Amino acid sequence: MKKLIILLFAVLLPLSFWAQTQAAGGGYPLDNADVDLGDRPSLQRGAKYYVNYCMGCHALGYQRFNRVGKDLGLTDKELLENLIFTSNKKGEQKKVGDLMTIAMDTDYAEAAFGVVPPDLNLIARSRGADWLYTYLRTFYKDDSRAFGANNAAFPLVGMPNVLQHLQGEQQPVYEEHDDGHGHTSKVITGFEIIKEGELNVEEFDQVALDITNFLVYSGEPAKMVRGKLGFWVLLFLGLFGWLAYQLKKEYWKDVH
Ligand code: HEC
Repeated sequence: MKKLIILLFAVLLPLSFWAQTQAAGGGYPLDNADVDLGDRPSLQRGAKYYVNYCMGCHALGYQRFNRVGKDLGLTDKELLENLIFTSNKKGEQKKVGDLMTIAMDTDYAEAAFGVVPPDLNLIARSRGADWLYTYLRTFYKDDSRAFGANNAAFPLVGMPNVLQHLQGEQQPVYEEHDDGHGHTSKVITGFEIIKEGELNVEEFDQVALDITNFLVYSGEPAKMVRGKLGFWVLLFLGLFGWLAYQLKKEYWKDVH
């Protein structure tokens, strides 16, 4: 019985993870995001892209500007000059200690987009880094949509393609898919650029990765501290282990 339960877990657990990634990806295979929280320049660029391209619509409600500054190595002056473009209720520039909330009215957002753009503080944890990275790179031209764009990872998405001038405009490459019962469906297998953007493919992939990196960090800022702390904890354990061993040797010296 015990064996059966273990076997069931061993089979069902990976299967449920697989199902989750399938559901989140809208069927489109996810690309691997090479997230690196030790890459400070990438995190700084990600923060800059985020406030410039995303924060008009998406808040980071649990994050404070100066926490980002502390974790990413930016001074208050650099924060004020490069990251803080939003204003408070009085219309003044936000302060470094303020939360990264936004002023967009939800009724307005609903009228404009049909749905309120969600806070993205925890998006990397709910969707996963690979999904985010894929999502940012798979917007494509679709004239049937209100904003002229669709997305392979999030079919019928209500978000405009805000990075289009960087990436350029792309259209999907389809493949006929036969399900073996006489039904064929079209699946997206890749993209081709139909209008050049300001960046080439590698440069744009880097932008998407920088934003993904920043959102993974934002989902759990403590991860950075934990990583650094881990080193000292291991060092302590190593030293303490060595000390304990020496002590044991000393105690048992005369017993044999
Ligand atoms: C003009 C407003 C606007 C801007 C700017 C914008 N978005 Fe969005 N975004 C939306 C809306 C609206 C949705 C909701 C789409 C839906 O649910 O159909 C959305 C959805 C998303 C989602 C999916 C959330 C979910 O439900 O899983 C992600 C991820 C996202 N945006 C990331 C970004 C990033 C990163 C940027 C900056 C590069 C950005 N957005 C810029 C309006 C915007």
